[in-house]
Amino acid sequence: MAIDLLLGLQWGDEGKGKIVDVLTKKYDVIARFQGGPNAGHTLEFEGIKHVLHTIPSGIFHPTAINLVGNGVVIDPVIFKQELDNLAPFNIDTAKSLLISRKAHLILPTHRLLDAASEMAKGKAKIGSTLKGIGPTYMDKTGRNGIRVGDIELPQWKETYTALRDKHLVMIDNMNVTLDFSIEELDRDFFAAVEYMRTHLAFVDSEEYLSQAQKNKQRILAEGAQGSLLDIDFGTYPFVTSSNTTAAGACTGLGVAPNKIGEVYGIFKAYTTRVGSGPFPTELFDEIGETMGRVGHEFGATTGRARRCGWLDLVALRYAVEINGVTQLMMMKGDVLSGFDELKVCTAYNYRGETINHLPYSLNAEELSPIYTSFPGWKEDLTGMHEANELPQNLHDYIAFVEDFVQVPISIVSVGPDRSQTIFRTTE
Ligand code: GDP
Ligand code: IMO
Ligand code: MG
Repeated sequence: MAIDLLLGLQWGDEGKGKIVDVLTKKYDVIARFQGGPNAGHTLEFEGIKHVLHTIPSGIFHPTAINLVGNGVVIDPVIFKQELDNLAPFNIDTAKSLLISRKAHLILPTHRLLDAASEMAKGKAKIGSTLKGIGPTYMDKTGRNGIRVGDIELPQWKETYTALRDKHLVMIDNMNVTLDFSIEELDRDFFAAVEYMRTHLAFVDSEEYLSQAQKNKQRILAEGAQGSLLDIDFGTYPFVTSSNTTAAGACTGLGVAPNKIGEVYGIFKAYTTRVGSGPFPTELFDEIGETMGRVGHEFGATTGRARRCGWLDLVALRYAVEINGVTQLMMMKGDVLSGFDELKVCTAYNYRGETINHLPYSLNAEELSPIYTSFPGWKEDLTGMHEANELPQNLHDYIAFVEDFVQVPISIVSVGPDRSQTIFRTTE
C-alpha cells in the first residue's frame, strides 16, 4: 500500500497540523519524517486549541498510531512537556505513540550552541527558533550524534557526557556570554529521558513501516516546516537543517520513492514567513498588517510575529515541482475576505529581466515581484461548509492558482477548526 505525504509548500505554518488532524480518520499510521520542536502544529476542535511540536498531529484520533521517524530530532524535555499537555485528554500514548530508535536527540548543549551561533552571527542571524535544530543535525551528519536507541545501551551516560563536554568546550571558544547551569540542564534532561524510556515504545521504525505496508495499513507522512525552508531547495542559508521536501520523507522514514502515493501540498492563500531571509512578496503596509492581525500570524513555537505578503505563485509552482504534489490544499482563504483587490505574484523582475522561475538569489536588491490583480470578496467564509457557497471571486482565484501550477485544489480551509474545511472533490 502506498504511503501518502503531506507537506508545506511555503515557509512553514501553512496549517499542516490542522489538515493532518482532518485527514487522520482515513489513515492507520501518521508518521513525522523530519524537523523537531522548531515546528508548531496547531489543531483546533471542540473549542480547544492544541499545539504539537514533535508529536504527530494524528494523536487525538484513538485508533491511529503516531510514529516519530528517524529523520526527526527529539528534545526529551520538550517531548515530555508535550506529553504532559496531552494528559487531560486520556490518550494512551504508551500504545499510540512510537519513537524511532534512529531519531537523533537534541541535547541541552545543542540548544546552547544554537543560541551561541545566532549571537555570533549578529545581524546575519537566521532567526532560528533556538531549539538546537541546526547543531543536532550537524552532529548527525558529522557522525557525532546520539540517537534514541543509545538510551537503551549500558554506556548511555558516558556517551552523553562525552558529547556534552565536547559542546561545552566549543561554546567556551565561541566567545559569547550565555547564562546557564549545566547541572540543572543535565537534571531536567535525564528526568525527561527516563520518562521517555519507561513510558514510550522505541521501535525500529523502517521495519515497522515496512510491515505496516505489507499489512495494507494506510500511512500518512507528516512534514514539518515548508519547502522554502528546505536545506537544499530553500532560501539558503535562511532555512532549517533538514530536507522538508518529499525526498525527506523517504530518508526520514526509510520509505522507497516508488512507495509514495499522493503528495498533498499545503499553502496559505497568502504568504507568511517567520525569522530572517528574503521574502519577495512581503508587505510592509496596512494590508500586510491586516493579514497578520486577522490571520493571528504569530509563531506557534516562538510567539514571534510572522511577516506577511501576497501569494507567490512562482515560488508555489517551484515547490509543487520539487515535491511532485498531486493535490493542493489552500488554507486561510477566510483571512483575505474584505480586501478590495488581491494580488498574486506571477513572475519576477530579476536583474532587469522578466523571469518565470525561482532564481538562485531572491534578494530584494536584485529581484522584485510582478503581480496579477483580482477583485476581492466581502463575504465571511468561516461559516461555509460547501464549495458552492464560496464567493465567485474566490472560485476565480482558486481556478487561477490551479491553472498556474497545474494541480487541483482539493481542500479549501476557511477557519482554524477541524469543521471549517471544505472538500472540493466531493462537489
Ligand atoms: P503548521 O505549522 O503548518 O501546522 O501551521 P501553524 O499551526 O503553525 O499555523 C497555522 C495557524 O493558522 C494556526 O493558528 C491554525 O489554527 C490556523 N489556521 C489553520 N487553517 C486556518 C484557516 O483556514 N483559517 C484561519 N483563519 N486559520 C487557520
Ligand atoms: P512548522 O512545522 C515556520 C524557521 C525559523 C528560522 C528558520 C531556521 O510549524 O511549519 P531552526 O529553528 O529550524 O534552525 O530555524 O526556520 N522555522 C519555521 N518557520 N514554521 C516552522 O515549522 C519552522 N521551523 C523553523 O523561524 O527562520
Ligand atoms: Mg507552525
